[in-house]
Amino acid sequence: MSVDEPVIDVLFSEAEIAARVETLAGEIAGAQNGELLIVVILKGSFVFAADLIRALDRAGVAPQVDFMTLSSYGVGTRSSGVVRLTRDLSEDVGDRHILIVDDILESGRTLAAARDMMLDRGAASVLTCLLLDKAEKRVLPIEADFKGFVIGDRFVVGYGLDLAHRFRGLPYIGVVRQD
Ligand code: IMP
Ligand code: MG
Repeated sequence: MSVDEPVIDVLFSEAEIAARVETLAGEIAGAQNGELLIVVILKGSFVFAADLIRALDRAGVAPQVDFMTLSSYGVGTRSSGVVRLTRDLSEDVGDRHILIVDDILESGRTLAAARDMMLDRGAASVLTCLLLDKAEKRVLPIEADFKGFVIGDRFVVGYGLDLAHRFRGLPYIGVVRQD
């Protein structure tokens, strides 16, 4: 390992994540009120979404899936505050029951933008499922209907989450050590 290589401490192991995803899928199955269209917010949530949709299948839920890319971060560890739609859905969300799936709820800008977009387009209902909740960082008054784990104000990577395009493939969620 090179001297510049960052050290990553495990925050949630592969097994902890798998157990939590299974529980979340059960909660979503219990709350379902019609055929779901899952709207995955790329890029960070693609690994979570892939596991969640298979856990939902085990829980007896067979949703449709579509993807949109929203971007509020550049390559750094701080949000720019402006949410940009860089890739839109291909499905029409009018009169559909939507479950938005995203990686991290921080200021709430990304989730609020996604939710408002679905409502503006005439969705019948909008539920939200977030892998991680940085509760103390909220700027807008928005909460997730389903959430995996609450974490403090630390920058995490792995399980789909990146730091400047790196670390998405780690099977666990980790914190980049800063020292
Ligand atoms: P918000 O719009 O401030 O709520 O920011 C949420 C978005 O910022 C998430 O969808 C992530 O893409 C990104 N993000 C926030 N914190 C982290 C982190 O610790 N690691 C990687 N991406 C993050
Ligand atoms: Mg994101």
